[in-house]
Amino acid sequence: MIHEERAGENVGEARARLERELERAFAEDPPVSLDDLGRPASGADVSRETSSREGEPAAPRAPKRKTKRGPRKTAEPAPEAKPARARVLAIVNQKGGVGKTTTAVNLAACLAVAERRTLLIDLDPQGNATSGLGIDKGALESSVYDVLVGEQPLRSAIRPTAIPYLEIVPATVDLFGAEIELVSAIGREHRLANALEGQTTDYQYVLVDCPPSLGLLTVNALTAVDAVLIPIQCEYYALEGLSQLLGTIRIVQKSLNPGLGIEGVLLTMYDQRLNLARQVQEEAVEYFGEKVYDTVIPRNVRLSEAPSFGQPVILYDILSAGAVSYMKLAEELIERCRPRVRG
Ligand SMILES: Nc1ncnc2c1ncn2[C@@H]1O[C@H](COP(=O)(O)OP(=O)(O)O)[C@@H](O)[C@H]1O
Ligand SMILES: [Mg+2]
Repeated sequence: MIHEERAGENVGEARARLERELERAFAEDPPVSLDDLGRPASGADVSRETSSREGEPAAPRAPKRKTKRGPRKTAEPAPEAKPARARVLAIVNQKGGVGKTTTAVNLAACLAVAERRTLLIDLDPQGNATSGLGIDKGALESSVYDVLVGEQPLRSAIRPTAIPYLEIVPATVDLFGAEIELVSAIGREHRLANALEGQTTDYQYVLVDCPPSLGLLTVNALTAVDAVLIPIQCEYYALEGLSQLLGTIRIVQKSLNPGLGIEGVLLTMYDQRLNLARQVQEEAVEYFGEKVYDTVIPRNVRLSEAPSFGQPVILYDILSAGAVSYMKLAEELIERCRPRVRG
């Protein structure tokens, strides 16, 4: 457990201690490699070198290009068929503006259009996924805040959306307070995991849209999910900060959720005319190997317009490059998850 409850501590002290502990953990932990994190059961063979030697930059960067991108292994049937259950994924990157919410909303919508029963959980106090699906935040009786802080059943906060097969647990501004309110609460890292316990059997996919930080809300997501999906914006310094994210994943693996894996890495706002975009792609492949989705999300104005109409792009403009690419991503995800998810 990275941070335990201490009797008699006030919220400010507990929060400061939590930050010190995380800082110390990062200082002690060198940059992480995928091998350290363990490979999920998908059979994806990630062979690559890492820059975990002393004195090397913290940003993930492999010295030599080693990864060969052969045909992706197709899903093999699970050795002993466990009962099928939802695949629960967190869309995470502590940087803001990299396409987490755009991916959460549009991937969830596309999975639903492909008739996969999907639940989107908005875990960002900004509530952009909530408004992006046309939910009126002012009219909500309960939200993810009530689930986390009030320990209300998940069911009480689930809302339908305009897309059959897609439901959402919305977020409101209350959630800004949750991080502070939960700091001194018992089992604070497990609130989302507890809420999901036994509640995901109606779904094939559960996606959690995370806030742009590695605070308690993101730690709750990492504790609750099977794996993370990391969007990377094809921009300068795209991979900066990823070692910190992977460090947090490792801490959570050690203490809170040993089964946590990396589902995939998604390149967003990709402009194929730019050398920079291709460089980011190459670096991502060097570092994450086959974890990088074949599908890349292009920069597409329809994707940025759709949220102001409260619609996923697939409803707003089904023929746009944005809609086509998120549909392709949904297909790729379904294919990769096939051994583990019903349907
Ligand atoms: N592929 C894309 N093409 C064009 N605009 C995009 C794309 N992806 C995201 N955006 C826009 O970039 C901004 C940040 O995206 P968002 O998904 O909110 O990032 P995050 O959730 O990581 O903060 C938003 O205004 C969004 O509409
Ligand atoms: Mg967001």
